[in-house]
Amino acid sequence: MDLEETKEQLLKVEREIANCQLCPLYKTRRNIVPGEGNPLAQILFIGEAPGAREDEEGRPFCGPAGKFLDQLLDSIGLQRADVYIANTLKCRPPANRDPLPEEKSACRKYLEQQIRIINPKIVVTLGRHSTETYLPDLGGITKLRAKLYHRANGIYFFPLYHPAAALHNGSMRQTLLDDFAKLPAAIEKVKVELSKEKIEREKVIIKQEKLF
Ligand code: URA
Repeated sequence: MDLEETKEQLLKVEREIANCQLCPLYKTRRNIVPGEGNPLAQILFIGEAPGAREDEEGRPFCGPAGKFLDQLLDSIGLQRADVYIANTLKCRPPANRDPLPEEKSACRKYLEQQIRIINPKIVVTLGRHSTETYLPDLGGITKLRAKLYHRANGIYFFPLYHPAAALHNGSMRQTLLDDFAKLPAAIEKVKVELSKEKIEREKVIIKQEKLF
């Protein structure tokens, strides 16, 4: 898909989210927060759910956790315009409570569509909720963080602690900076793996051609 087509497809998902009534959060939200960034991004970040600021502005990570996310991106030479940022939930849970399992499963189809459309090289899950959504059977975030996983659906995941964790716990700040520093190497590894997969696919095609 080219840039224009990708933008159009993402807008279609946004319109669907705006009309969504699959869970009760549409009744209490002020704005939907579908996600934003580079539609052709190589990295897709998935946070938890919109907070008060995000609900007001309709944009992901525009509050204090977002400020730290910007610093983390900057620490590896990236800006928001380089990446795409979305959340597990597109509507704010009242009083910033944790997302409920039924809210996560209702909202999941939008995230799936965004992943399919953006087709990033790597999906970075930020925190427990988005990590559990995609890597449910491997252990907790403390065990999984800053390592690369390849799921059967062909997507590469790189879980990290949520940037908000550093707002309540000062030592987490350095841990997150250290973990973020491992992301560029993970992306390079994914690129190598993807080109190996491509070569294997081409080999299969050549074999098939030889059959005829
Ligand atoms: N925390 C999140 O997980 N997402 C946001 O958009 C803001 C804070």
